[in-house]
Amino acid sequence: MSKFKITTLGQFIIERQNEYPEAQGAFSRLLRDIGIAAKVISREVNRAGLAEILGEAGKENIQGEDVKKLDIIANELMIDCLTRGGECCAIASEEDDDIVQIDSPVSKNANYVVTMDPLDGSSNIDVNVSIGTIFCIYKRVTPIGTPATTEDFFQKGNKMLAGGYVIYGSSTMLVYTTGNGVNGFTLDPSIGEFCLSHPNMKIPKDGKIYSINEGNRLEMPEGIKDYISWCQEADKPTNRPYSARYIGSMVADIHRNLSKGGIFIYPPTAKVPNGKLRLLYECNPISFIIEQAGGKSTTGKERILDIQPNDLHQRVPIFCGSENMVNKALEYLNK
Ligand code: AHG
Ligand code: MN
Ligand code: MN
Repeated sequence: MSKFKITTLGQFIIERQNEYPEAQGAFSRLLRDIGIAAKVISREVNRAGLAEILGEAGKENIQGEDVKKLDIIANELMIDCLTRGGECCAIASEEDDDIVQIDSPVSKNANYVVTMDPLDGSSNIDVNVSIGTIFCIYKRVTPIGTPATTEDFFQKGNKMLAGGYVIYGSSTMLVYTTGNGVNGFTLDPSIGEFCLSHPNMKIPKDGKIYSINEGNRLEMPEGIKDYISWCQEADKPTNRPYSARYIGSMVADIHRNLSKGGIFIYPPTAKVPNGKLRLLYECNPISFIIEQAGGKSTTGKERILDIQPNDLHQRVPIFCGSENMVNKALEYLNK
């Protein structure tokens, strides 16, 4: 085989589209549209420091134009690509209070809805640290041709057709699953394509990394405090003490733990009794990927993907990552 042979995201999607015979290419086109948006967002993220799109929305740049924050730009770019692609009838975004209806002429028979966190890790935008985009695709449940409703979005995560994230890191990667394993694609800027670089990603059953905002420790349930202490104890056979790694971009923390093994926790705290992270935009897609890679994801009480959503912006606690590590944390939580 030629050393020049590559598989682009577009080629990979087409090769796999027989996994969705009923979608007849529509679903593939939707994934393609998300890939296009990801490339444009990646370009904007890369030149953010030069382009005066950092900082607070509403302020003026030196040309007297309104500065748009990168998360607003990412939101608009995703909505634009999904609108013009014609396969999505509505979007629920972390950045919008209500669902965004798409009623362009090309999308009147669209059969899919998308949920997204257009820019995850906003606190890291201004300081050149990895950030991401997270997305889910569902088939609508209301009739085609009628306006989508929240009912289309209040589907359990286990109904998701595809979930994925893009990480804007030292390179830009798109990682997604359609329920048949997890595949990762790295953006090759020289040809402007995502190329298959991490086929069939698997998360190790064990790891040495725990990712939690320990600054909130005093506000956490006792079981979690005890679990953190256990992670910090020295015990050679179990590779402890573990390393603490917490970037503050869920996508980046998950991506590292998916590659190396680890646990990511955003627990309930006194201040945020339901945790901070959003079920529809963050926890569901990430949980689908982690489970598909062989890991585990739970609120501490139930599997994330089995939760019946009842609010677009609903938050849930999350324990997510290497299976044995999540089980250990649960043991402490439920003691
Ligand atoms: P967003 O930037 O989309 O609002 O998400 C930020 C999230 C998530 O990416 C991260 O894991 C978490 O907030 C960090 O929260 P703390 O600063 O409370 O630890
Ligand atoms: Mn987020
Ligand atoms: Mn966000």
